Amino acid sequence: MKLDQIGYWSEIKLEIIKEYANAYTSIMSKQSWCKGYVYIDAFAGAGTHISRRTGEMVLGSPLNALEVALPFTEYYFIDLDEDRADFFGKLAGENPNIHSYHGDCNEILVNDIFPLLGWDTFKRALCILDPYGLHLKWETIKTAADLKTVDIFINFPIMDMNRNVLFEDFAKAEPEDVERMSAFWGDESWKQLLYREQATLFGETHHVRIEDYQVLAKEYCKRLKQVGFDDVPEPILMRNIKGGPLYYLCFASQKSVAKDIVNDIFDKYRKAY
Ligand SMILES: C[S@@+](CC[C@H](N)C(=O)[O-])C[C@H]1O[C@@H](n2cnc3c(N)ncnc32)[C@H](O)[C@@H]1O
Repeated sequence: MKLDQIGYWSEIKLEIIKEYANAYTSIMSKQSWCKGYVYIDAFAGAGTHISRRTGEMVLGSPLNALEVALPFTEYYFIDLDEDRADFFGKLAGENPNIHSYHGDCNEILVNDIFPLLGWDTFKRALCILDPYGLHLKWETIKTAADLKTVDIFINFPIMDMNRNVLFEDFAKAEPEDVERMSAFWGDESWKQLLYREQATLFGETHHVRIEDYQVLAKEYCKRLKQVGFDDVPEPILMRNIKGGPLYYLCFASQKSVAKDIVNDIFDKYRKAY
């Protein structure tokens, strides 16, 4: 199976998620009312990566979650790539607490996994939504928010947006990329936020960009609150080696204690790098 080469900031992202996963199971294992604390990795990946920095193998987010000091009670892994899903299928064959799915996580989460996590199940979940680009749908986020049982990490994919959607002149974006952006955002309001109509000397009108990804990310966090996640910390910006923005790592939860823990972890990395 082809492994991804990952940059420094992806290693930091993995550290952040690992740190929170450890805190999460340590807290949840002490809640006597809780009938299960579940880990979901919806864009699970290949299991391991190659570090561009060291050339060494680095465990991906699903394997890190399997290695937390106090394990989750169940694990759900999804990937659209058949070989990658098969890798987790093999692990599922060896451990009844692991479940592997092959397909689009937006459908699998909404139809198969989230329905197992209703409020009356007394289960809680940590869900990692870490796509390469604009492959996550707002409908998925909304379903998670309605449950009130799920904490989520979201990769807010600036690079895909900047390369394919957020052109200075809106007309340059391909319709399918505009559609992906609207599916990610939940509606078309991102256009009003970023673009203004401007008349040219020749009597035509253009939509010209007046804001950038920073405004968009701030508004996305507001939308996470509006949709039902009460506790959303300021996201952390991940950059490439030249300082160019790659993505924000966002977090959304129903618990202020979860927000505080993530804030502390984010701050530690913000200060260190
Ligand atoms: C960035 S990688 C995930 C890496 C993983 N979180 C880690 O840190 O080890 C994104 C993965 O999402 C998968 N993918 C892309 N679109 C998907 C979709 N709609 N549903 C599920 N998986 C998808 C890709 O095949 C790829 O393996």
